[in-house]
Amino acid sequence: MRKNIVAGNWKMNKTLQEGVALAKELNEALAADKPNCDVVICTPFIHLASVTPIVDSAVIGVGAENCADKVSGAYTGEVSAEMVASTGAQYVILGHSERRSYYGETVEILEEKVKLALANNLTPIFCIGEVLEERQAEKQNEVVAAQLASVFTLSAEDFSKIILAYEPVWAIGTGLTATPEQAQDIHAYIRSLIAEKYGNEVADNCSILYGGSCKPSNAKELFAKPDVDGGLIGGAALKVADFKGIIDAFK
Ligand code: 13P
Repeated sequence: MRKNIVAGNWKMNKTLQEGVALAKELNEALAADKPNCDVVICTPFIHLASVTPIVDSAVIGVGAENCADKVSGAYTGEVSAEMVASTGAQYVILGHSERRSYYGETVEILEEKVKLALANNLTPIFCIGEVLEERQAEKQNEVVAAQLASVFTLSAEDFSKIILAYEPVWAIGTGLTATPEQAQDIHAYIRSLIAEKYGNEVADNCSILYGGSCKPSNAKELFAKPDVDGGLIGGAALKVADFKGIIDAFK
């Protein structure tokens, strides 16, 4: 059966020293009170090599927030999937709406990134989700179906290795959260698309996380929905008390 997962996305926050302190504090909190779900922290690239050795890898996975769409070479400022893996990180967020909208990441670019992540044994946390105008026009299903094209070229075996995150852009960092019913509806739709493409077993085993203003006060209700398998957490991942509050929604 699929895993429940709470993953943090630190985005462009925390100096190296602050990030190391946050990871240590989370590690201590979860050593004292074991989580009932998988926990992942996705950090800026520069934190990865320092954070992986200080967390208990049996309890906390570590991931990057992006990787390059090229293997290696003259791509100034880029960081490859192989480099991410060499830090000891096991995950990588791909297709975050901030990458799609501010850095022009397309379905095709993301397809390359997902393949390179998998080739380097990283687990992609692949994000999809609609903007407000698309939700208002009731186009959210069409939007996520189109975004899934980046991962629907994978073999069933490779698709089974990825985690999906549905993040409605209108809920990210806005304090607006999808209702549990809205989340359930679209997660069930996403799972139905996976079932159509890869069959029921692959669909049943795929973890689909919700992201967008998830906090300790709403996590339990969201995660109680049958097709919501955890969360991808932005702002609330930057404070151990808040992040642990969300992790504890699975208790
Ligand atoms: P917030 O939790 O800050 O809304 O961010 C969600 C997100 O974008 C996680 O990737």
